[in-house]
Amino acid sequence: MSNYTFAVGPAVVYGPGAISELGGWLHKLGSRRPVVITDTALAKAGVADRVHSAVPQAHVWAEVGGEPSTELVSRALQAVRDHGGDAVVALGGGSSIDTAKLACALATNDGELAGYAADWDSLSNPGLPLIAVPTTVGSGSEMTRGAVFKDPVQHSKLVIVSDNLSPRAALLDPTLLDTLPASVTAATGSDALTQAIEGVLSTGANAFTDALHLQAVRMISRAMPRAVANSKDTEAMGEMQQAAAMVGAALARSGVGAAHAVANTLGGAFPIPHGVACAIMLGPVLRLNATIVPERFVPIAQALGAGPSPNAPLAEVAQAVTEAVGKLLASAQVAWRLRDFPVPAGELRRVAEQAHAHSDMSTNPRPLAVEEVLGLLEEAW
Ligand SMILES: [Fe+2]
Repeated sequence: MSNYTFAVGPAVVYGPGAISELGGWLHKLGSRRPVVITDTALAKAGVADRVHSAVPQAHVWAEVGGEPSTELVSRALQAVRDHGGDAVVALGGGSSIDTAKLACALATNDGELAGYAADWDSLSNPGLPLIAVPTTVGSGSEMTRGAVFKDPVQHSKLVIVSDNLSPRAALLDPTLLDTLPASVTAATGSDALTQAIEGVLSTGANAFTDALHLQAVRMISRAMPRAVANSKDTEAMGEMQQAAAMVGAALARSGVGAAHAVANTLGGAFPIPHGVACAIMLGPVLRLNATIVPERFVPIAQALGAGPSPNAPLAEVAQAVTEAVGKLLASAQVAWRLRDFPVPAGELRRVAEQAHAHSDMSTNPRPLAVEEVLGLLEEAW
């Protein structure tokens, strides 16, 4: 493990009913006219109304539909300006939270989003105060200082990273997740699980990220089947929600690995949810990485409560991890294959070439050759 930097992020406010603390937090931030940025589905499900009744002075803008784009962010910013917003509450999954982060940043920084994607930490002014209220269990965006958006000019996803994007607080209330569809719990939970395990195996892992990632693996492995089976299981949903936030706090510091390099490449080209792509790639990537850093599988096996005694041969420990992860994903019903989406077999080499060059590959235990990535894709197909 080499030298590293780790920073503690937003305040975490956790608990069933914690949404009742939102008003107090906004007051502490000096806000009189908050704007809630959320998506149409949460408005329809009545979740936005529940948040609104906790902060009746807020204006609710429920027009996030899909991933953030420069156009969506400028509409969100306009809504904040139209209502004289002095703080923002992001209610939703990664798309709503990233849209809100970017709108808050542009409220106080001139220029175009794409201009800030070129250099890290180029947002010079703090954005409008932001409180993130996540309603999925995977993106971790509530804890990070990054945001992703689609740029129509460059036809690609760009990322902005700056302390000035970081929410002031992440308010985690598992009762707000009681209408989350099982498929979304499974997909976003698989994303968090993949990020946690890849984070432990990553060349960027350190003592702080290990502590958070391994606790996240512990919580996800015991809670995910229950949370997928019953969205009203507040205890299980709460464990998933806390695990996702822990992963969010750690992941930008450790980096991820080959499963994310492939999942993020697939996400740009095929209609496959990010967490599902992670779940599909995790098994093949674990089998390959077990041959590179088998000793790093020991703490993961312990966190999963999996496998042979600690003195067993490392290859057996790694195999136990891969099997336990496979069972966990199967119990969450994310045991898909790439051909199901469909990803045509003829496209696999192109995907392999792009994933090989993806920045997430740089923190895999070792960078994989194109032929190795192709092998992973063929195994997952
Ligand atoms: Fe991810």
